[in-house]
Amino acid sequence: MRPSRKFGQVINQGPTPGDAALPPALPCPDGWAALAFTAELKPGTVLTRQLAGEDVVLYRQRDGRIRATRPYCPHLGAHLGLAEVAGNDLVCPFHRFAFGPDGRCVRTGYGTPPPKAALTHLPVREVNDAVFVWRHHDGREPDWEIPAWHVLGDLPSRHATWEMAGYAQDVMENAVDVGHFRTLHGWSRGELAAPVSFDGVTFHVSMRVQEQFPLLGRRQVEVEVDGYGLSCLHTDVHTPALGLEMCSLVMATMTAPGRMQFRQASRFRVTEPSRLPPALARTASRTLSRLLAGPMFRFSCEFTAADFPIWSTKQYLSRPRLAAGDGPIGPFRRWSRQFYPPNQTGPLTLPGTPVEGEHPHGQAAGTRYVRP
Ligand code: FES
Ligand SMILES: [Fe+2]
Repeated sequence: MRPSRKFGQVINQGPTPGDAALPPALPCPDGWAALAFTAELKPGTVLTRQLAGEDVVLYRQRDGRIRATRPYCPHLGAHLGLAEVAGNDLVCPFHRFAFGPDGRCVRTGYGTPPPKAALTHLPVREVNDAVFVWRHHDGREPDWEIPAWHVLGDLPSRHATWEMAGYAQDVMENAVDVGHFRTLHGWSRGELAAPVSFDGVTFHVSMRVQEQFPLLGRRQVEVEVDGYGLSCLHTDVHTPALGLEMCSLVMATMTAPGRMQFRQASRFRVTEPSRLPPALARTASRTLSRLLAGPMFRFSCEFTAADFPIWSTKQYLSRPRLAAGDGPIGPFRRWSRQFYPPNQTGPLTLPGTPVEGEHPHGQAAGTRYVRP
């Protein structure tokens, strides 16, 4: 199969997806994981999403606050993905027990006193137009946050979601895999402007690259990437010669062993041309931003989509044979260990890491495009 770079392309033939060919090599990392976009959860909406092989039910109360809960009703176990929101309560469809904003049962469907029972809420945050749920293998409460993105223009963000075999860690590792930007993405030159820095749960990549723009030729692009845990990248891409600025949130969530959802949210603007008088410059910036936001988002998604066939079919190698020009894969792998249970010794030496050439079985799976 020739990997397609088309935005929204269905990939259903060719190399076997990793989750069908290999046993899972990496567990779900600890930390925040994006399960939805803000726009998917209007007040009163109930959504079921997967995280680490389990259902999570998200709902938005009428007062606008969002909740995430484990899926089964504490009364007799109905799935709360079928529930409805009444005011700020979640009402189970089976016996219509209602659960208040703090999760406690506040009434039954029979008008009898409610039992001492409560939903198990999960930590949830709404940041950068996305909804993140916290998961930690030992139940630890959140000890870090994903920061809000900076202001960029006044257009709403655009977003898209894909589902495929793969690991969130590979999505994050992509940002430090300096070599592949040339060989897979077609940058003629791409180099680090400074060494990649790792600090606590974050890392920072600064690159200067040459990119070919449709109709506009080859231009220098400044790329700043911040990684937060193993599930969220914030990328700032600036093309000074063209006045183009794009800020994207790239989010990878392990929905099940060896399977992930990939989300991208982007904001875009054309800067105000300094040669024009201020009022005209503002109008030019607004008009061009509006005209180019859609094509630039598609361009950005197609750029990222070059990685999808690689991620969804690749094997996780705990001992890769690295070469000069690869970028700091080793330091990244060492940094990433903090997001896994310590008794699994980290991704460099995880037990159960598949041996090269081994092809056990799993569920059939392809890469699907999912409209949020
Ligand atoms: S199972 Fe939910 S109300 Fe009975
Ligand atoms: Fe890539």
